Amino acid sequence: MLSADSLSRGRSAGDRSHLTNKPDRLFEPDTLDMNQLSERNAIVKRAGDIKFWRSICPQLSISESPLGSHMKPYAVSPSDVKKATQQVLEEGYFQVGPIVPRQETRLLTDAVRTVVDHGFPAPFVLVYDQVWQILSRLENLLSPILGAFYCVTLDVWIYYIRGFREDSADSKEDSGWSPHRDGKLVISTLRGDGRPQLLDVWIPFTDTTVEHSCMYVLPTHLDPNYPDNLREWSVPRKSLQDIRALPAEAGAILGWNEYALHWGSRGTRWADGPRISLAARFQSRDLDGSGFLTLDANSSFNFQARLATIGTLFNRYSRRKKCPEALVNFCRGQVLLYEAVKLGIFKENASERIP
Ligand SMILES: [Fe+2]
Repeated sequence: MLSADSLSRGRSAGDRSHLTNKPDRLFEPDTLDMNQLSERNAIVKRAGDIKFWRSICPQLSISESPLGSHMKPYAVSPSDVKKATQQVLEEGYFQVGPIVPRQETRLLTDAVRTVVDHGFPAPFVLVYDQVWQILSRLENLLSPILGAFYCVTLDVWIYYIRGFREDSADSKEDSGWSPHRDGKLVISTLRGDGRPQLLDVWIPFTDTTVEHSCMYVLPTHLDPNYPDNLREWSVPRKSLQDIRALPAEAGAILGWNEYALHWGSRGTRWADGPRISLAARFQSRDLDGSGFLTLDANSSFNFQARLATIGTLFNRYSRRKKCPEALVNFCRGQVLLYEAVKLGIFKENASERIP
């Protein structure tokens, strides 16, 4: 890769030999690199500038403490609560809703599009309060599953999956996700009665059909590899008819335990826009040793801490989404900075440190 230094190295001011008798196109890479360099510097500068983020999405906020007692839980019908509680117990996953109001999902859809249009990967929308506020308002649905006072972990991601174009699928994310189980097998996160202590929640911000990379699941009670052969991630031929497609309206809530086999399908050219969604992990209060940082609703969670969180996510999921190299380095720097200044915004124990 060329740097500004390498562009000038070895050439005297009057030396134009590299330009003579050569086609113009040989000159282009140098020009492009200078432009790219400038773009890289600009995007890094913008990433750390709170005024920039406020200016591109003035309808959203970045405050010191986005959560707190003023956050009212979303209303959830008794039938949805009953369904989610029973379904996750009996089938390893649930789908209910919509729960998050359309007005809120539309606001976040617009924000994600804006962030992406400005050259940032979609997870940078995590700088805004409103994403975290959604996660803090699911109590009526999640408490019956996880128990009271469960935690929101900082293992959060924003997906932006375009319609299918083979020539532009530059990451795993762009092609959906192949069948997998989320959890590591080193710890068990299921209680004796089958209720999860770690729950993966997925919320579409856009209406998600089978043409938009919707989720699919093989319910655990129909998975011949569950629970004794969890290293197997394939769908046996005899189970093909048991696969469930999970198209979902914007604001629906889907969730699964750490071991349910699931995947996102590839988007199609018939999709009327990208599939934009949020994924987050929630943890019961009594689970030890998961290694996930948790968000303390009563502490500050300022702009700096959110950049550090985004940096941690890109460190952990570097294969998930391509990110400009300079931005990745910037994100890593934010994590180090966070470590250095010890903002003390997380409830932290010895096993819970930003990597
Ligand atoms: Fe997953």
